[in-house]
Amino acid sequence: MPVLGLGVWQMAAGAETEQAVEWALEAGYRHIDTASMYRNEQSVGAALRQSGLPREQVFVTTKLLPTHMSAARELEKSLSRLGLDYVDLYLIHWPLPLLSGRLWRQLESLQEHGLAQAIGVSNFGRDRLETLRRGTSRMPAVDQVQFSPFRYRRRLLDYCLEQGIVFEAYSPLERGQGLQDTTITALAARLGRTPAQIMLRWGIQHQVVVIPKSSNKERIYSNAQLFDFELADTDMQILDALDRTNASSRARR
Ligand SMILES: NC(=O)c1ccc[n+]([C@@H]2O[C@H](COP(=O)([O-])OP(=O)(O)OC[C@H]3O[C@@H](n4cnc5c(N)ncnc54)[C@H](OP(=O)(O)O)[C@@H]3O)[C@@H](O)[C@H]2O)c1
Repeated sequence: MPVLGLGVWQMAAGAETEQAVEWALEAGYRHIDTASMYRNEQSVGAALRQSGLPREQVFVTTKLLPTHMSAARELEKSLSRLGLDYVDLYLIHWPLPLLSGRLWRQLESLQEHGLAQAIGVSNFGRDRLETLRRGTSRMPAVDQVQFSPFRYRRRLLDYCLEQGIVFEAYSPLERGQGLQDTTITALAARLGRTPAQIMLRWGIQHQVVVIPKSSNKERIYSNAQLFDFELADTDMQILDALDRTNASSRARR
């Protein structure tokens, strides 16, 4: 699974999504994160075909709206919109306590039929992962959760790494809100990098997959320049300390 992907939430279907995915693939991204809820799977599929890249070179994730009872029917619709025979990763978009176990067993079957190469979950905390584990032989391959220096969910991250679950960070730029933080901007200036690169590199150095969203060509390109520098341990610690989540919410994770 490529550690950098393009997130396409809140991109309008049509030109905006197609253009962004096209730029991302040009810039070297090989991983696109969409969802049936984003209503732009069709545009993601169009851009993938337009790129001419072989199917197996691009990692495509989509997500099941957990309010639907038939994961098979929903994945069939997503595949049809994407114009693909399979997705690389199919996620339950968020937990629904009474339904997650049942949906999970349906996802297992979809994986067995080759319609999803891997299956996982999103917005699951440790308790929900543990509940899922009690009813299944197969743990999720991935947990996609909100994660940035301002939401450093260390216990959940440690748990996922111990369990062999890939930890995937959504909103890794804190939806753009983290980029003006003076600690981030000072570090970026010192290292000659953009604030977004600093936040994304921090995630990657924590062994996390990051999926920043941008519809802007220049930002899509610069957000991918993450592999020619490294943050020192002391800088990682400075960023770790930005965590704004309080002790009570930390205890719940
Ligand atoms: N599973 C879930 O429940 C869930 C929830 C939320 C998100 N996600 C996924 O995670 C992806 C990313 O999260 P997100 O969209 O919430 O937020 P994000 O990636 O943290 O931030 C996106 C915002 O940052 C701006 N931005 C991007 N690069 C920038 C740069 N270099 N300089 C300045 N601004 C920059 C974007 O604006 P421009 O477009 O104008 O550049 C946009 O406003 C989503 O697209 C989606 O795929 C999943």
